Amino acid sequence: MTALAIENVTAAIGKIPVLRGVSLKVAPGETVALLGRNGVGKTSTLRAILGLLKRTGGTATFDGNNLDDVAPHKLSALGMGYVPQGRGMFPLLTVKENLTLGLRGAPDPEVMADIYRRFPRIEERLSQAAGTLSGGEQQMLALARCLVMKPSLIMLDEPTEGIMPKLVTQIRHEISEIATRGISVLLVEQNLRTALRLASRVYLMERGTIVHEATPAALRADPSTVHRYLGVSL
Ligand SMILES: Nc1ncnc2c1ncn2[C@@H]1O[C@H](COP(=O)(O)OP(=O)(O)O)[C@@H](O)[C@H]1O
Ligand SMILES: [Mg+2]
Repeated sequence: MTALAIENVTAAIGKIPVLRGVSLKVAPGETVALLGRNGVGKTSTLRAILGLLKRTGGTATFDGNNLDDVAPHKLSALGMGYVPQGRGMFPLLTVKENLTLGLRGAPDPEVMADIYRRFPRIEERLSQAAGTLSGGEQQMLALARCLVMKPSLIMLDEPTEGIMPKLVTQIRHEISEIATRGISVLLVEQNLRTALRLASRVYLMERGTIVHEATPAALRADPSTVHRYLGVSL
């Protein structure tokens, strides 16, 4: 059983191929990280899964649904959540408006209570413009906005990018909480430590394709691969 599976997905931006045959899987409840240097195609991979970037080849399935048959705006109803890079907040709307933006009907009171318990600062700031929150608070709000939709899988694009170290710890904690509740996570990260700590499997990407797959333990034991594809030392 897989929650999400893509095989040999290709895509281009204009005439430039950005995905050159990407295959990856996320099992139900699994946390998987997708790592790679800037510009290798991580965001494009997520966007291609969501149909926001047109797939020119390959297949994508989510919970047994062929995603070719699902319009992008129907994906959240299927249980697919997405927190875009840069968080996608509407700075002039209130926190409350941002939080419930994706919902058709009234929010589930139990889910809202859970979110307020988890993120008390969001509840305190509901009527404030989202743009007045700190970067870390906006990332929490982006996560919360995704949870409001009761997803079975969440795709997070660089959730700790540009966030103060103190809040990185909290965001990391919230992601692991999400995972312990059985929600599958596909985590795009630049922060190797965050990825190795949260994921049970890691894909390394380079120039539009997956070049390596490993467990965090195997990667920790393989600094030359880490250095080769990520340009960092462990
Ligand atoms: N809107 C865009 N217009 C032109 N090129 C783009 C655009 N977005 C991304 N690209 C290019 O596509 C490639 C993959 O980008 P992206 O998926 O954002 O990489 P990553 O998320 O790994 O940093 C890069 O070479 C980038 O320059
Ligand atoms: Mg990106």
